[in-house]
Amino acid sequence: MKIEEYLKSLPESIVSGEEVQLPEKSFRDIFNFLKLEKNDIFYHLGCGDGTGISIALKEYQVKKAVGVDNNPEKIKLAKNILDKNKIQGKLICDDIQNVDISDATAILFWFTNEDIINNMMNKFKDLKAGTRIITIWGPLSDCLPEKVKFPYIINLVPFKKANSLQEQVLAVFGVKCVDFVTAWEFAERYTKAISTPEVENDRFLTIIQTLVIWINAKNLGVSCGEKIPESIKTYIDIMKTHFNIDFEHLLK
Ligand SMILES: C[S@@+](CC[C@H](N)C(=O)[O-])C[C@H]1O[C@@H](n2cnc3c(N)ncnc32)[C@H](O)[C@@H]1O
Repeated sequence: MKIEEYLKSLPESIVSGEEVQLPEKSFRDIFNFLKLEKNDIFYHLGCGDGTGISIALKEYQVKKAVGVDNNPEKIKLAKNILDKNKIQGKLICDDIQNVDISDATAILFWFTNEDIINNMMNKFKDLKAGTRIITIWGPLSDCLPEKVKFPYIINLVPFKKANSLQEQVLAVFGVKCVDFVTAWEFAERYTKAISTPEVENDRFLTIIQTLVIWINAKNLGVSCGEKIPESIKTYIDIMKTHFNIDFEHLLK
């Protein structure tokens, strides 16, 4: 089956990111990278169970922390966490697209839905100069990232425009072209950064991510050389033979 069909066979709520909750360690990595501090007004857009808001307030003593989620169940969980820890955070149960975020100085935004991203870009570009928006895996549309600690990416207001998708890809990977080793290293960093430590299918995920990164790089013209590396061919074969997952058709 094609990789797209395989992905469709997985639970929709996981693939869409709806049910994805970052572990505590990821929040600390994100906040350290953001240099979150007591003068910050922090917004977690899609705050889930509120763990991020709670850590931002308790451990980084931000001036104000606001969690926004459109799922009332998540907001209820978040309220419980804040109450249990006796901390004051603001929780808003609404679509992030409806919420006033104009006082933000730091934002965590992990969305893949294009309509939401495009809509939010209109709000983000009007934020105060110096506001940091951290995204995961990719920068905001058309932006050159300010700083990258893959998979975490800081986008700074006012945004620097990328001249091309290629320029954006290379800024994220910090290389002149993407080879097998770069694809593997970044795939592994992503898997390690956002999964729980006990995850057992790391390697499987890393192989899929590596193939996706390298094939996308090739199709965008930013892979190193025209030839398909032997390691990529081997992993495409392994996926096909042992897991019946086909990547070949993605190669243009
Ligand atoms: C990792 S975030 C983002 C998920 C999102 N579907 C994506 O495109 O990646 C997951 C959290 O965002 C919340 N969420 C999803 N869409 C939202 C929206 N439009 N407004 C507010 N919260 C949202 C979910 O309830 C969940 O707790």
